[in-house]
Amino acid sequence: MKTVKDYIRTIVDFPHEGIMFRDVTTLFSDPRGFRMCIDQILNPYAGTRIDKVAGLEARGFIIGGAIAHQLSVGFTPIRKKGKLPGATLSQAYQLEYGEAVMEIHDDAIQPGEKVLLVDDLLATGGTAQAGIQLIEKLGGEIVGCAFIVDLPELGGRAKLEAMGMDVHILCE
Ligand code: PRP
Ligand code: HPA
Repeated sequence: MKTVKDYIRTIVDFPHEGIMFRDVTTLFSDPRGFRMCIDQILNPYAGTRIDKVAGLEARGFIIGGAIAHQLSVGFTPIRKKGKLPGATLSQAYQLEYGEAVMEIHDDAIQPGEKVLLVDDLLATGGTAQAGIQLIEKLGGEIVGCAFIVDLPELGGRAKLEAMGMDVHILCE
């Protein structure tokens, strides 16, 4: 039987020369692959209270929406600066070169809500770290951070675990 990893395509030299881009669109476009991915992300949380799913732009929206629907809970987008229409909280984070900013609507999560944070891929962990900080600023309690792919040489998992996060990743 194929695994989640078997459905992920690698594009050489995207977006820059020397980068091996792990492309999950081939996983999402396969009916068995996509279902397997959502099921495997949810597996460790069976019996765990989750009130809301938060997804990181952009591919975290695709899995986050499917997971929230499966759990019958709400979904909260965490977006790049300037995309959310209402009042927001902002959090800067480090990129390879320079800085970027993620935002969340300031009423998207209520204090004490149990939140599952999801994205397609964990690299340096900067994006996820910003997402965690935003959820926690609103008083959300993060029950886990789940990703499809880890790039272990970039240290994201260690960064999130050092913040006390429970990290669940399907493949490297
Ligand atoms: C990718 C990926 C994660 C992030 C991981 O998104 O989908 O969100 O990078 O990198 P990090 O762990 O080093 O922060 P990207 O920034 O390419 O944005 P996009 O999904 O909007 O294309
Ligand atoms: N795929 C998707 N997003 C990414 C990657 C990748 O290989 N590397 C850094 N962000």
